[in-house]
Amino acid sequence: MPAIKIESIDKIYDDPDEAGEVKALSDVNLDIEEGEFVCIVGPSGCGKSTLLEIVAGLLKESSGTVYIGDKKVTGPSREIGVVFQNAALFPWRSVRKNILFGLENTKVTKEEKEKRLDYYLDLMGLKGFENKYPAQLSGGMRQRAGIARTLIAEPKVILMDEPFSAVDHLTRCTLQEELINIRQKEKKTFFFVTHDINEAVYLADRVIVLTPRPGRILSEYRINVGFPRSRTDAALSRYAADIIADISRGKEASDEEYII
Ligand SMILES: Nc1ncnc2c1ncn2[C@@H]1O[C@H](COP(=O)(O)OP(=O)(O)OP(=O)(O)O)[C@@H](O)[C@H]1O
Ligand SMILES: [Mg+2]
Repeated sequence: MPAIKIESIDKIYDDPDEAGEVKALSDVNLDIEEGEFVCIVGPSGCGKSTLLEIVAGLLKESSGTVYIGDKKVTGPSREIGVVFQNAALFPWRSVRKNILFGLENTKVTKEEKEKRLDYYLDLMGLKGFENKYPAQLSGGMRQRAGIARTLIAEPKVILMDEPFSAVDHLTRCTLQEELINIRQKEKKTFFFVTHDINEAVYLADRVIVLTPRPGRILSEYRINVGFPRSRTDAALSRYAADIIADISRGKEASDEEYII
């Protein structure tokens, strides 16, 4: 059974400014295996965030069904962890309390909470910063704290929407390395949205390319390059070039009217 099953998803938004309705997603079908790292790429506005929010249970699909394991997604759940572009930490809470927020209203014992906190602080390189407040952290550290807050709840699947796009290039590279490291240790299923093709081919087991709005699956690539990967690997560059060519082709071939 796939960890995430996306079945015939359509999404139509009401949009008075567009003088009608906007079709954002059209018949998206995708199975993601347990432990798989899948990146979704596509041009701006093609529906990547819409799809992620539907999988997260934060947005209702117009038709179709999403399953996490054998359960239909009907709303947010503890099994689904989400990381957005900005960590949105509580400024009045310390790093420690922000991360522990991921376990608020759970039955996890105090002892287990402390154990997990210790583990995830270490994993995210935040040891020694637990009593600092968000304003005292760099952007990269805030993002790490946000990821730790998601991971501490130990969700089955982790959905990330451009989680590194607000940080500088070097921090972004470091965070990518950390994510690969986490991925190797935690064996979770990842659904990762990015517009950065190099990031996608560097991180993913599989890259899914969406067409311009309405987003449908245009192509997919299994990235047959083992870890650890080198950023200058010629095979990765070839995948990236093919994906970029697909996206340009998709733009030209965009035939379906999106205002309906
Ligand atoms: N609340 C909304 N109401 C109406 N239309 C919306 C709404 N949210 C998104 N859309 C439309 O749906 C399309 C898909 O939006 P979405 O945010 O999913 O794209 P995206 O692929 O994540 O883009 P980006 O790469 O810029 O983040 C957009 O073109 C937008 O016009
Ligand atoms: Mg988006």
